[in-house]
Amino acid sequence: MWKYVLLVILGAVLVRAQFPRECVTPEGLRSGQCCLSPRGLPNDECGSSTGRGQCVSISADRRPHGPQYPHDGRDDRERWPIRFFNRTCRCNGNFSGYNCGRCRHGFTGVNCDLRVSVVRRNVMQMTAAEKAAFINALDQAKRTVHPDLVIATRRYQEVFGPDGSTMQFENITIYNYFVWTHYYSVSKTFLGAGQQSFGGVDFSHEGPGFVTWHRFHLLQLERDMQDMLQDPTFALPYWNFAIGGSTCDICTDDLLGDRSTFDANGISSNSLFAEWRVICESVDDYDTLGTICNSECPVSRSRVTPGACPLSWSPSAAVCQKTKGHVLCPSGQS
Ligand SMILES: *[C@@H]1O[C@H](CO)[C@@H](O)[C@H](O)[C@H]1NC(C)=O
Ligand SMILES: *[C@@H]1O[C@H](CO)[C@@H](O)[C@H](O)[C@H]1NC(C)=O
Ligand SMILES: *[C@@H]1O[C@H](CO)[C@@H](O)[C@H](O)[C@H]1NC(C)=O
Repeated sequence: MWKYVLLVILGAVLVRAQFPRECVTPEGLRSGQCCLSPRGLPNDECGSSTGRGQCVSISADRRPHGPQYPHDGRDDRERWPIRFFNRTCRCNGNFSGYNCGRCRHGFTGVNCDLRVSVVRRNVMQMTAAEKAAFINALDQAKRTVHPDLVIATRRYQEVFGPDGSTMQFENITIYNYFVWTHYYSVSKTFLGAGQQSFGGVDFSHEGPGFVTWHRFHLLQLERDMQDMLQDPTFALPYWNFAIGGSTCDICTDDLLGDRSTFDANGISSNSLFAEWRVICESVDDYDTLGTICNSECPVSRSRVTPGACPLSWSPSAAVCQKTKGHVLCPSGQS
């Protein structure tokens, strides 16, 4: 489990049901267009007047699905993101972001023409103060609402709510968003109430972007944390898990938390991570009810015993197969 959490945090974790908050109004979604102006540049879609980018139609691959995915038209993630939006910003040069208001990773400045060096260091070689700063930054990310993005908590056909205008989107914190993007891309295809969800496809691990995909997630988290900290040089460190062999050398209270002295499955109360909660724990409910995210449980170090979580989910290996390795997974079932 810890190795996986670390892969997520440090070393390695896309289709996204997350959208800019300003785009998911009933009108915005019905228009199919999400082309916003950069902050401070009103009425300038995608910053086009200053050459930052332009609003373009998205063309998704129209070829039929392969035989492993027999459910054409049933899953919002097919031909992503066409179900939600078919016009978005395309940014030029060193500009990036949903409104071209950001710089590409590694650039900064008003015109995004200043290079910044982002040094990815070995977490074991950081000083005590650097380790503390890193863990505190992660904790801040876990608590800070993402400034721009919200997540859909229902599938497209229900996303307008029962009255057609109560949008089914929620805020999410920066760290949880990072977990969420991974989860959403690998989750099963909901086929309707009472029907078993289709788990025979994984839009990420079995997709063409596999090799670079976890890296992209980490870059996204790093970029969001840079903005949160207002420090374009902030870098996630790396962990060489081979060094510790079979012991978890970063499971110490100055890094990812030692074992609790009271509860073998728990994290030491001296660690900030003892306060963390797992999001979307009831993955089974998503599969059967079509809700996407509905509970929170404490993070634990090893296999969760039934009843450890206040809700009536059952930690089934099948569920875990698909969420494997992410903080979403009941711990220990990695
Ligand atoms: C884009 O999406 C909107 C809203 O769903 C739809 O009305 C429009 O026909 C779509 N345009 C194209 C070219 O698919
Ligand atoms: C990005 O910025 C660098 C540094 O100023 C510049 O050399 C480079 O041409 C820019 N890239 C693009 C595509 O504009
Ligand atoms: C979501 O976050 C935004 C920005 O922080 C805030 O303005 C809004 O009130 C929040 N919405 C909810 C439902 O908490």
